[in-house]
Amino acid sequence: EFERDLRPLSFNEYIGQKQVKENLQIFVRAALMRQEALDHVLLYGPPGLGKTTLAYIIARELGVNIKITSGPAIERPGDLAAILTNLGERDLLFIDEIHRLHPSIEEILYPAMEDFALDIMIGKGPSARSMRINLSPFTLVGATTKAGQLTSPLRDRFGVNLRLEFYDKEDLVNILMRTAKILNVNIETQAAERIAVCSRGTPRIANRLLKRIRDYAQVKADGVITSAVAEEGLRLLDIDLHGLDQNDRRLLLTIIDKFNGGPAGIDSIAAALNEETSTIEDIYEPYLIQQGYIFRTSRGRMVSDMAYEHLGRAKPQK
Ligand code: ADE
Repeated sequence: EFERDLRPLSFNEYIGQKQVKENLQIFVRAALMRQEALDHVLLYGPPGLGKTTLAYIIARELGVNIKITSGPAIERPGDLAAILTNLGERDLLFIDEIHRLHPSIEEILYPAMEDFALDIMIGKGPSARSMRINLSPFTLVGATTKAGQLTSPLRDRFGVNLRLEFYDKEDLVNILMRTAKILNVNIETQAAERIAVCSRGTPRIANRLLKRIRDYAQVKADGVITSAVAEEGLRLLDIDLHGLDQNDRRLLLTIIDKFNGGPAGIDSIAAALNEETSTIEDIYEPYLIQQGYIFRTSRGRMVSDMAYEHLGRAKPQK
């Protein structure tokens, strides 16, 4: 089965992100009542929290078509012009990783978002002139892991600006029970609770763990995910009791062992881990910061006492 089969298709099916959902439901309904395109929406937050899923739901609830693309996928101005001119009345354009749009392409987006118009240059030099092509009113839904990296002219053109939060345990349990039902797998509530606390607040991780533990249950048990099965499956996947995985522990241990617990600059940490700085910033550290394992200070990242305790390390005397 593909991930899209697990995706909720309506606001009613969508679990968690209560405030984001309530706001979107109102804005969608108001746009429908006025028979207008929904204002442009910026969704931001760590990966795996449901930004793409929400874009699909918004399109479906608006009753319009959705076109999906991403910042890095739009290489030339002509690529974006082709997409924009092919959008139907009130259709939704979803641009994932919108912070990675090339500046020359971003400029095309400004009049498109503001005036539903495309300004194209014809010719070169002194005889060059610009021509305006009207577009159908449309809704741009942009997604990014870091709103801070958006240029302000782009950010300012979104009428709706919503931040997705990590999911709490209860929401993750409900998502796991829903997914288990779709996958036709038998899971005890206590097992779902164990998996939920190991999912780093992220439905995508919860659903991935569920699939792997389902494999384990099938091969090593009688197919039922009991809490003992979940516990053993999580242990084999190298996920600890607090739900930290190898990458999390490697990051914390690097700061502890190579930087004396910090503060250490993110680029130095990335170099020590042989990872991209952005991978650490966008994927590994947000959950560790939210859980209080890492602090961001003006002089760099620092691990907390909780990190030392959790990893069984003694705190150095400074
Ligand atoms: N599957 C993944 N994310 C979900 C969510 N927020 N609600 C319901 N099912 C999901």
